[in-house]
Amino acid sequence: CRVQQWDSEEPVPRAELLAGVAGKRGLLCLLSDRIDREVLEAAGPGLKVISTMSVGFDHLALDEIKKRGIRVGYTPDVLTDATAELSVALLLAVCRRLPEAVEQVKNGGWTTWKPLWMCGYGLSDSTVGIIGLGRIGQAVARRLKPFGVKKFLYTGSRLKPESAAEFEAEFVPLTRLAEESDFIVVTCALTPATQGMCNKDFFSRMKKTSVFINTSRGAVVNQEDLYDALAHGQIAAAGLDVTTPEPLPTDHPLLSLKNCVILPHVGSATYATRSTMAVLAADNLLAGLRGEPMPHELLL
Ligand code: NDP
Ligand code: DGY
Repeated sequence: CRVQQWDSEEPVPRAELLAGVAGKRGLLCLLSDRIDREVLEAAGPGLKVISTMSVGFDHLALDEIKKRGIRVGYTPDVLTDATAELSVALLLAVCRRLPEAVEQVKNGGWTTWKPLWMCGYGLSDSTVGIIGLGRIGQAVARRLKPFGVKKFLYTGSRLKPESAAEFEAEFVPLTRLAEESDFIVVTCALTPATQGMCNKDFFSRMKKTSVFINTSRGAVVNQEDLYDALAHGQIAAAGLDVTTPEPLPTDHPLLSLKNCVILPHVGSATYATRSTMAVLAADNLLAGLRGEPMPHELLL
């Protein structure tokens, strides 16, 4: 293949992408590249394959892509473990207030051992609600179970008895999941149905002592409603690996809250995982260009 590459870790500027894609047969992109009608039109009718180095595909205009008969490759499975691990790490950091505690050691706030100082919430005997019991959702539940979780709840567009059996997880409506969970982990895909799903009504149903974690996509959460819930003590704490926008501006109100821990979208960020994702994305692209089955094709 002849390859034209944007040789930088920074996102390709839109104008460069529109100019560079013209006349190409294949496109390998990242989740930070919005592949919409404008890009597809700039590419022209020769574009046959799009390969994204991500499992999420909400940055791709699938209707437009399908209309043009373009095939899509993506990277499921290979990042499930890393993302589940990060979700659990974030949950533990939030519920046991680790960033705050580390800060106290550094700034002299640690004066002596005090009975209620720096207390948080533990997983033993808790109810955990998973929004989206897919690959990552199941991997999160698998990792949380040994912490002594008493009950798993899940919600989604349909019952998943095979996936739920391992955790004896109960399928419930979103409202009940919000009301009964001590910990909520969002691991669903971003779709029109899930966009803004965690909103004022959702947070108002949560317990004051509950912890909210999102490692899916920022737009699943209404961030203003989350800010209000955290600032007014309607929920205990939140951990976000994904935000709207990304990066989150450094003066964003959520960053002023002690009970909100925000990470810069690092769910899959282990060296091994990113390397495997990159190779898989290249293999998907090459297979698509050859007209062969892709290792992981998104069926449109
Ligand atoms: P899967 O497709 O396996 O799981 C997605 C889940 O979303 C499915 O179980 C699906 O459930 C659920 N879902 C769809 N619609 C709804 C709904 N209306 N309400 C609740 N759940 C719903 O994908 P993965 O587990 O591999 O990845 C999930 C997402 O995680 C990705 O789409 C991506 O956005 C994000 N991600 C983030 C990473 C990070 O770095 N933070 C890393 C990797 C992924 P159902 O079958 O019932 O529809
Ligand atoms: C994805 O793949 O969708 C993640 O957000 C990054 O690994």
